[in-house]
Amino acid sequence: LGQISSKKGRLPLQVLFLILQLVVALEMLFTGEPLSAHEALMHGLVSKVVPEDKLEEETMRISRKICESSKSVLALGKATFYRQMAQDLDTAYKITSQVMVDNLTLRDGQEGIEAFIQKRKPVWSHSQDEKK
Ligand SMILES: *[C@@H]1O[C@H](CO)[C@@H](O)[C@H](O)[C@H]1NC(C)=O
Repeated sequence: LGQISSKKGRLPLQVLFLILQLVVALEMLFTGEPLSAHEALMHGLVSKVVPEDKLEEETMRISRKICESSKSVLALGKATFYRQMAQDLDTAYKITSQVMVDNLTLRDGQEGIEAFIQKRKPVWSHSQDEKK
């Protein structure tokens, strides 16, 4: 996973992703045709397509799900996502490996794991505090 074969070797997923986005962008640019919701989904430009009358319900469902998470753990994940995006694959792996370790020192990082093991809902502190 993460790589695709070509005649000259293997393309990292990041490169393939960029090429696919580029091809779709060029088609839109040259033809002036808008993408349908189905095409946007197919090309990974949107994560989900729902009928218009279900849009608010689905948006609220996703929002509520995000709000159930720890703010500090979400913030760490979001910051890491954007930080590793601009890096080569090796650096991206190094950054995310370190962040997984950092995550485990957060009070809420440990709470998430404990709650999962104890099969209960986590009780978040939302703090940046580290737990010893
Ligand atoms: C941090 O740990 C929680 C589990 O407590 C996990 O859900 C989350 O994905 C982790 N975030 C990162 C950036 O590793």
